[in-house]
Amino acid sequence: MDRKKIYITREVPLMQVDLLRQHFDVEINPMDRTLTKEELIEKVKGKDALITQLANKIDKEVLDNADNLKVISNFAVGYNNIDIEEATKRGIQVTNTPGVLSDTTAELAWALMFAVTRRVAEGDGYVRNNKWNSFDPNLLLGQDVTGKTLGVIGAGRIGKAFAKKSLGFDMKILYHNRNRDEEFEKEYGAIYVDKETLLKEADFISLHVPLTDETKHSIGRDEFKMMKNTAIIINTSRGPVIDEKALVEALKEGQIWGAGLDVFENEPKIEEELRSMNNVVMTPHVGSASNETRTKMARLVVDNVLAVLNGNRAITPVNQI
Ligand code: GLV
Repeated sequence: MDRKKIYITREVPLMQVDLLRQHFDVEINPMDRTLTKEELIEKVKGKDALITQLANKIDKEVLDNADNLKVISNFAVGYNNIDIEEATKRGIQVTNTPGVLSDTTAELAWALMFAVTRRVAEGDGYVRNNKWNSFDPNLLLGQDVTGKTLGVIGAGRIGKAFAKKSLGFDMKILYHNRNRDEEFEKEYGAIYVDKETLLKEADFISLHVPLTDETKHSIGRDEFKMMKNTAIIINTSRGPVIDEKALVEALKEGQIWGAGLDVFENEPKIEEELRSMNNVVMTPHVGSASNETRTKMARLVVDNVLAVLNGNRAITPVNQI
C-alpha cells in the first residue's frame, strides 16, 4: 500500500519529523521563505496532511486543489489563515496548538507593557549610542504599573494568563469578553464590564481576541478617542484587530500614551510612521517564541497529524467533521 503523504510548508527545526517519517512520506519546503500561493497549490495536490504556518493562506482556491487532504495541522493557536468553513465542507480536519503557548504569549504582552511604561527600548538605545553622560533626574520618565487598572479584551486562555500575572502588581482587573467567566472573576477579582467602560477606565489595555469579522478593526478611531490620554495599548493577538492607521493618528495626536505591538495589520509591513515613534515598542510576531513553547507546539502539530492519519480523533481539533 502507498504510504500517506505529508507536506510541511516551512521547516521547523524543533519538529520531530522522524516520528512522521517512520510511517509516512514527508516533504518539507527546502526554502527559507513562505511558499507563494501557486507553490502551495502545487504542493497540496495528492497530500494527505499539510503542516502549515500563519503566513500560509489556506483559502478556497488552495482547498479546491486538496484532492486527498485529511488534515491541516496549523503551527499556531490562531487559525484565521485557514478557511475553516471550506475545509469542513470537504471533511478536512483542521487542528491548532492551544494551551501550550498561553503563558509564553502572556509573558510577551507583559514584556511589551514594561518596555512601553518604562521606556526600555529608548533607554537601551540611549546607552548603546553613547548618549549617557551622567545621572539625570529627568531622563526617560515613564509610568508606574503597580496599583493601576488593567483592561483585558478577550478572556480566553491567553487573556486570562495575562490577567493572572498582574496579581503581584495589585492591579484592578477589568475584562470584556463574549461571555462572562465567573470562576475567573471569583479567583482573580476580575470585573466584567462593557467595552466602552473598559476603554474609558483602563490604564493599560491588552488585546487577546481571535481575528474574526466581528473583531477586525474593533479598536479604531472611536475607541482610541474613548481611552485616557495616558493609556497604553498592547496587542499580541492579531494585527487587524486594531485599525493601524487610526492607531498612528491616536499616537500622533496624543490621544493615548503608547503602544506595544507584536502583531500588525499587514505583516510584515507596518505603517511607516510607527518606525519613528519612541512611544511604540514593536516585536516581529514572536508571542509564542520560547524554546520550550515552540518545542511543545511542534510536538502537538506532529501528534495531531499522527492521530488523524492513524484514524484517531485529533488532539486539538478546530472544526467538527
Ligand atoms: C500565533 O500568533 C499563534 O496564533 O499561535
